Amino acid sequence: MILEIKNLTKKYNKQKTGLSNFSMTMEKGVLGLLGPNGAGKSTLMKIISTISKPTHGTIFLNGEDIVKNPDTIRKILGYLPQDFGVYPNLNAYEFLEYIAAMKGVGGSGLRKRIDMLLDGVNLTAAAKQPIGSYSGGMKQRIGIAQTLLNDPKILIFDEPTVGLDPEERVRFRQLISEMASDAIIILSSHIVSDIESIADEVAIMKTGTLIGKAIPSEIIKRIENKVFETVISNADLPAFKAKHLVIDTSRQGDKTQLRYISGFQEIEAGARNVPAGLEDAYLFLTQN
Ligand SMILES: Nc1ncnc2c1ncn2[C@@H]1O[C@H](COP(=O)(O)OP(=O)(O)OP(=O)(O)O)[C@@H](O)[C@H]1O
Ligand SMILES: [Mg+2]
Repeated sequence: MILEIKNLTKKYNKQKTGLSNFSMTMEKGVLGLLGPNGAGKSTLMKIISTISKPTHGTIFLNGEDIVKNPDTIRKILGYLPQDFGVYPNLNAYEFLEYIAAMKGVGGSGLRKRIDMLLDGVNLTAAAKQPIGSYSGGMKQRIGIAQTLLNDPKILIFDEPTVGLDPEERVRFRQLISEMASDAIIILSSHIVSDIESIADEVAIMKTGTLIGKAIPSEIIKRIENKVFETVISNADLPAFKAKHLVIDTSRQGDKTQLRYISGFQEIEAGARNVPAGLEDAYLFLTQN
């Protein structure tokens, strides 16, 4: 399996550009998309899922143009949109049967598959209740279950962990790692630690472009030896912020403890070098 995204541009209108000459190639495994609001993550995921067409550019799946021939990918695709709407009057069984029918999935194994998926997202006990009575996290989980109905080879999850509690996050991670060995999985999140624990590779987006794609440790290398912690007086904070990229602050009386990234050779008096993390690298790459 190889997914080649070539020079995608999406212009929504004269002012709004969702993607700008975006290119990326991936093979099987889990790719985490990170980027600030409006970076183009959902736009990219909608185009791969053939929900939306690019203004320019194309996507090849195993050499086949899926912008021209969307049916090639639809059969093997599972997609969780960011704003996943549900049918409030259906219960989980009825909903999954309905989605299965739309996807053309049927046969004698369907009921078993639905039971297995409901168990996978921990909704067996609530399966006969109408979805309208579900909590936000439960709705998100039924959304995750519907992506897996057709045994997909390409999975696109737009912010799948939103609303999930820590236990359900772990469960989601396990579900994904079970699928990951022979599928292409792309997921977006704002939570860097979620991406770090699930993804094999990370792609960082900003203003419709790709600013880096690599395994987390490679991305972190870009700011190696540049992350520091120190304590300064509150009065010095504005001048400090003008000079360095401040990542985190915590106030302690008339002093502020802070974590920052410095591009300068010279180290501030009293500062100590600390190990860099993916979150530091993400902020460095997207805020500069
Ligand atoms: N239907 C639309 N009409 C007009 N502009 C749009 C539309 N959808 C997205 N955009 C614009 O395209 C850009 C990228 O949006 P997109 O939703 O892809 O970003 P995102 O990375 O998913 O952001 P978020 O983290 O908030 O979900 C933004 O400037 C957005 O305003
Ligand atoms: Mg989005």
